[in-house]
Amino acid sequence: MTTRWWQSGVIYQVYPRSFQDSDGDGIGDLEGIRRRLEHLVWLGVDAIWISPFYPSPMVDFGYDISNYTDVDPRFGDLAAFDRLLAEAHDRDLRVILDLVPNHTSDRHPWFVESRRDRGSERRDWYLWRDPAPDGGPPNNWLSEFGGSAWTLDPATGQYYYHAFAPEQPDLNWRNEKVREAMFDVMRFWLDRGVDGFRVDVMWHLLKDAQFRDNPPNPEYVEGAMSPYRKVIPAYSTDQPEVHDVVAQMRAVLEEYDERLMIGEIYLPVDRLIDYYGRDGEGAHLPFNFHLISTPWDARELEVMIDRYEGALPDHAWPNWVLGNHDQSRIASRIGAAQARVAAMLLLTLRGTPTIYYGDEIGMRDVEIPPGQVVDVRETTAPGRGLGRDPQRTPMQWDESANAGFTRGTPWLPLPADAAECSVEAQRSDPGSMLRLYRRLLQLRRSDPALAIGTYAPLPATGSILAYVRQHGGRRLAIVLNIGGKPAGWPVPEDLRGAEPLLSTSGRPDVISADRELTVAGDTGLVLEVPAGRA
Ligand code: NOJ
Repeated sequence: MTTRWWQSGVIYQVYPRSFQDSDGDGIGDLEGIRRRLEHLVWLGVDAIWISPFYPSPMVDFGYDISNYTDVDPRFGDLAAFDRLLAEAHDRDLRVILDLVPNHTSDRHPWFVESRRDRGSERRDWYLWRDPAPDGGPPNNWLSEFGGSAWTLDPATGQYYYHAFAPEQPDLNWRNEKVREAMFDVMRFWLDRGVDGFRVDVMWHLLKDAQFRDNPPNPEYVEGAMSPYRKVIPAYSTDQPEVHDVVAQMRAVLEEYDERLMIGEIYLPVDRLIDYYGRDGEGAHLPFNFHLISTPWDARELEVMIDRYEGALPDHAWPNWVLGNHDQSRIASRIGAAQARVAAMLLLTLRGTPTIYYGDEIGMRDVEIPPGQVVDVRETTAPGRGLGRDPQRTPMQWDESANAGFTRGTPWLPLPADAAECSVEAQRSDPGSMLRLYRRLLQLRRSDPALAIGTYAPLPATGSILAYVRQHGGRRLAIVLNIGGKPAGWPVPEDLRGAEPLLSTSGRPDVISADRELTVAGDTGLVLEVPAGRA
C-alpha cells in the first residue's frame, strides 16, 4: 500500500485570529500566517489547518459564515489567501481549510431569504417547525451553547433549529439543493488548490426526520456538567443517514488528487469509526479526541489506545489530537511536566497527529479578566467555565511588545511570562519544549517505524505506559512515565539491550535497558532496539 502524505504527515492547527497580526488591528490575519511559515518549516510539520477566515459577523469567531467563498476583510482578501497558499506550497506545506457545512450565519443571504416568508424558495434550506401546542419549542433539543436549540421567528410564527448560537441556523442537509450548494463551495476552494478540509461538527449534519424528543440523560449532574448534556442527543446528532452525506463529500474530494477530508466528531470510539465509511468511502481522518477526554492515567490511556487501535478497520488510518481551540490547553490540563510526555505520546503513536498552535512552546490557558471575555459560550452562560478564550490567546513569538503578535492592542490578553515562554526564547534553549517538539518531529520524519510502522502495546503497570512501533526490521520501544515519581518497568526479554534514542528530559536517563528500567518521573523515552533483535 502506498503511503499518502497525510498518513506520514503532521498537521498543525492555526487559529487565524491569534497567530500573527500584520496590520496592527490586534487580530491575526492571512498575511501574518504567511510571514510565519518559516517557523512551521523549521518546526517540521507537513500541513496547516486554518480555522475559518470567511466573511462573518464573528458571533462565534468565524464559525458563523455569511459568505463561503470569500475572505473576511479582518483577515485579508482572496489575493492574500492565494499568496499564502502559493508560498506554503513552495515550502512543501499543505493547506487545509475549515469547512462549516452544518450551519451558516443568520446574516447569510440564504437564511435572510429563508426567514423572509413561509413560501420563500429557500424556506426548506433550514429547519423550520411549528411551535408545540403550548406555543413553546417544537421539541426538547438543546443547543451546545445552552438553552433550547429552537428560536422563534415572530414574523413567520415558526421556530428554526440551531445546534449552536441562535445566530448559527442549521442547514437542512436533506435538501438536495443545500448539498449541491455546499459541494460547489468545496470545489471553489479545491480549484484554488487547497489540500483538503476539516469538516466542522460532521456528526451534527443530519437530524431525525421526525424530530423526535431526545431521551433524558440519567447521568446528568446539574452544575457539574454542561447543560447540553441534560438530554442524550440521540435524535439530533449521529443519524445513520449522515454517512451518505459524508460519502458524497468524499466523492467531491475524489474529483481531485490526494485531497484530505478530516471530520470533527466527538463520539465514543465505536461510533467514531463509522465515519471512515464501511469500505473507506467516508472521512480519511475522523478526528480522534480521546487523548483529550481520557483521564491522564497510564492504565486509562492504555485501555483507550488499545480500544481505538482494535476498533479500526483495515482500511482506516488512525489519528490523534491533543488540543484545539475548543479545549483547555494540554499544559493547563496536565501540567507543564506531563505536557512534555504528552508531546512524545502524540508524536509516537501510530497515526496522524494534530498539534494546536502554541502547544509546541507549552502555552497555557490565560486568565481572561471579566471585562475582556468575548467567547459566545461564556457570554451566554457566564460563570459556568465553558468559555474558550483562555486557549485562544495570541501566539507568543518573542520578547517584543505583545510577544511580537501585534503592534496594536491584542484581541485577547497575553500572559505575564509571554516573553520567556516564546518561540524566540525556546529556539535557543536546548532543553525547551519547542526543541523537544522539533526533535520528535525530526525523528518521526526520519524513522519509518514512527511514521508508518505498526503499533503493539507492551506490558506495563503503575504509571508506565509502553508500546512498540515497528517497520521492517526496525523496532522502537516507547516508555512513558505518566506520573511524577520514578517508576520501574520490567524490560521484555526481546527488548533487552535497547538504547535510548530520545528522552523528554534531554538527559541520558538510562545507559541501556536491561532487565528493569527505572524511568524518572514525568519522563518519556524512545528506545532503539538493536538490529538483529527484531
Ligand atoms: C466546532 C468548532 O470547533 C467550534 O469552535 C464552534 O463553536 C462549533 N463547531 C460551531 O461551529
